[in-house]
Amino acid sequence: MPTAGNREHWSSKSGFVLAAIGSAVGLGNMWRFSYLSAENGGAAFVFLYLVLTALVGLPLLLAELTIGRGAQKSPVRALAHYGGNAWRPLGFVFVAAGFLILSYYSVIAGWTLRYTGILLVEGFGSDIADRFGDISEGWDAFGFHVFFMVLVVGIVAGGVRSGIERSATVLMPVLFAVVIGLAIYAATLKGAGAGYAYYLEIDFSKLGDAAVIKEAAGQAFFSLSLGMGAMLTYASYLDRDQNLPGESVIIASADVGVAFVAGLVVFPLIFALGLTEEVGASTVGALFITLPHAFAEMGTAGRVVGLLFFVALIVGALTSAISLLEVVVSSAMDGLGWGRKRAAWVMGAAITALGSFAAFDISVLDVSDQIANNILLLGGGFALCIFTGWVMEDPIAEAANGSGRPAWLVPWHYLVRFVVPLFLGFVLWQAVPDTFEAVKGLFSG
Ligand code: PHE
Repeated sequence: MPTAGNREHWSSKSGFVLAAIGSAVGLGNMWRFSYLSAENGGAAFVFLYLVLTALVGLPLLLAELTIGRGAQKSPVRALAHYGGNAWRPLGFVFVAAGFLILSYYSVIAGWTLRYTGILLVEGFGSDIADRFGDISEGWDAFGFHVFFMVLVVGIVAGGVRSGIERSATVLMPVLFAVVIGLAIYAATLKGAGAGYAYYLEIDFSKLGDAAVIKEAAGQAFFSLSLGMGAMLTYASYLDRDQNLPGESVIIASADVGVAFVAGLVVFPLIFALGLTEEVGASTVGALFITLPHAFAEMGTAGRVVGLLFFVALIVGALTSAISLLEVVVSSAMDGLGWGRKRAAWVMGAAITALGSFAAFDISVLDVSDQIANNILLLGGGFALCIFTGWVMEDPIAEAANGSGRPAWLVPWHYLVRFVVPLFLGFVLWQAVPDTFEAVKGLFSG
């Protein structure tokens, strides 16, 4: 494939699509999606999340891909390419968001490594739920966080083709197979029906709840890796003949599909084993307390199923974390003139250090996640809409390159100009004060 200057490029079209799906599908689809669904009333949340992914997430995904491919640059320079220097600060906000999100994301990924280790060595005992406190905070959490970051840095240092693309091509099919297999297994459990009911029967009175809408919007962004330049960065390694509209639909469908199927694993399991109260009781830890408890009760089958589940989580976490680091690394390469290896190790070390706060205090992790989603990603998405809808000269033509100009690009432009920014403005207006309270709570308590 032709390359622009000496910028790295994907080796194939499907390589890019798999890497983008790898970025999207991660802890967000399994850990975050499940606990938020449980916390926000099940099916109503799921329904809102699906609608918002189609109407808000997908348009923004195409916007990010369009900017990245058109500019062939990392976020700060890509924004300046179309919008002039006034837009550079937004690029720095993206880099900061990548820093912050990866710092705690890696801690959670570390928990999954730890659980996998326990399953391999001894299996889960009946006390596994009580061990969450030790696993999630302190030196253990820190150690596994460092371990995970080393893996991520190692792959990113390998480059776009031999690191990022190759890992996604090998790992993503494994993840799909495991998640689908687990959903089929979960369907055979006695008592699974109550789980499906909770997950799929919509309580329409909850659809208008502003708090639920806010969480569903934040989740749609997080899950599609939007609002902080990850998809933009991946698209900057693309050639001009890639069909962006078509591929944005494939990427969004795969992301939603894995989240949905993960729910078909998690809820039947939890309900079949009668552990519903445990889920309601904790926030970020829900999945990491209740599911291991369920696996422990299931004996040998639980050990096998649990192992597969955690392996899928690790795979998802790894390919997503890679994209988070790539935003920071590509910016350091473009902006500071650093080589890839140096950028990966130096930035990786800085992010690891920042993550130690979340590793030693789970409430830091919780609040970081709220700041990242409710402010940085939603705010970043808002700014990107304004940028694409009002600053770029002809985004439809840029998006259409290589695709034969599908008719929905016109409503897409309209959504990006008017509907999505209005909606995000409304959500931000709700989300900012809540997040502010959460930050205050962290410092006062
Ligand atoms: N989308 C990833 C997930 O669902 C997380 C992520 C967010 C990755 C933002 C990159 C950027 O796990």
